[in-house]
Amino acid sequence: MTTRIDRGPRFLDAVQLGLGAWAWGDRVVWQYGREYSNTDIRQAFQASVAEGVHFIDTAEVYGSGRSERLIGQFVQETTKPVLIATKFFPWPWRLARTSALGALRGSLARLGTDAVDLYQVHWPTPVVSPEVRMEAMLACVEAGLARAIGVSNFSQTETLRAYSTLARHNVTLASNQVHYSLLRREAEKNGLLGRCKELGIRLIASSPLEMGLLTGKYGPGNPPPGTRGLRYANLTRRIGPLLKLMTAIGQNHGGKSNGQVALNWVICKGAMPIPGAKNAQQALENAGALGWRLTPEEIAALDLASDALE
Ligand SMILES: NC(=O)c1ccc[n+]([C@@H]2O[C@H](COP(=O)([O-])OP(=O)(O)OC[C@H]3O[C@@H](n4cnc5c(N)ncnc54)[C@H](OP(=O)(O)O)[C@@H]3O)[C@@H](O)[C@H]2O)c1
Repeated sequence: MTTRIDRGPRFLDAVQLGLGAWAWGDRVVWQYGREYSNTDIRQAFQASVAEGVHFIDTAEVYGSGRSERLIGQFVQETTKPVLIATKFFPWPWRLARTSALGALRGSLARLGTDAVDLYQVHWPTPVVSPEVRMEAMLACVEAGLARAIGVSNFSQTETLRAYSTLARHNVTLASNQVHYSLLRREAEKNGLLGRCKELGIRLIASSPLEMGLLTGKYGPGNPPPGTRGLRYANLTRRIGPLLKLMTAIGQNHGGKSNGQVALNWVICKGAMPIPGAKNAQQALENAGALGWRLTPEEIAALDLASDALE
């Protein structure tokens, strides 16, 4: 069966859940090549697409291009339609209007495709204004190499400036990708999420499982490996009550896992989570965040438990 996917101007509205590919090839933060292999990653991709999760988020810097190259291979191997989002990294020397175009051509070569569905600026920088950066991104759309433009890690002010610049050219800012999870709620509390909804900008939630912490598999005696252990040392000690509540709430829905509750919470807030998955099992479990919804009372209880961890 062929799945039809929307490639219209508001295509992101139809995407409830995506798949993040930062760990695909990354050895610095993740344990690529030691704990999981290309075979595991291929199976994660195949399981996701089979479950209808067909929006894949990558970046030119992930695994120094390896993530894009792997996705390029996997897309060739499937007959199912896939939406690809990648990111331009704003290295300090990338100042010219043509820099995004050059970087995107590199991404397209690695991805083995003629155009991406979403091209995002990975980070804002003080040296290049959102206006100038958006002009450079527009060149990618005009050249037919990107179907939509997004930003990432942009504040509300930067988002508005990017949005207005594109609007002057009758182009919509499709998305802003920011860190958003039950343990990281700035985007919700500082008004960014609300403003994005008003303007029709899809908020894409990066690290929605808080790099694995919200699955409940890590705890005080079992810290996450690598740099995550240090980064989350404090939270790992205090997260117990939230995880307990998530487990209880998951039981109300036929035994949904903590990870599925965490992803469903993001979806209920009106954002699109893009959890990373390193193998088929993780991908399948994450896809189980779809097809059901937390109640307003459960969301309120989760909000309270997460507030207590601030
Ligand atoms: N724009 C940005 O600046 C930015 C920043 C960060 C991330 N992102 C994007 O957001 C995506 C997701 O974020 P993330 O990868 O940082 O973290 P995440 O999605 O919060 O967590 C992913 C990690 O959690 C563990 N995991 C995932 N599913 C699981 C399951 N069902 N059961 C148990 N463990 C599971 C895996 O690691 P272990 O098995 O090792 O625990 C996996 O690598 C990235 O891939 C990337 O596309 C963007």
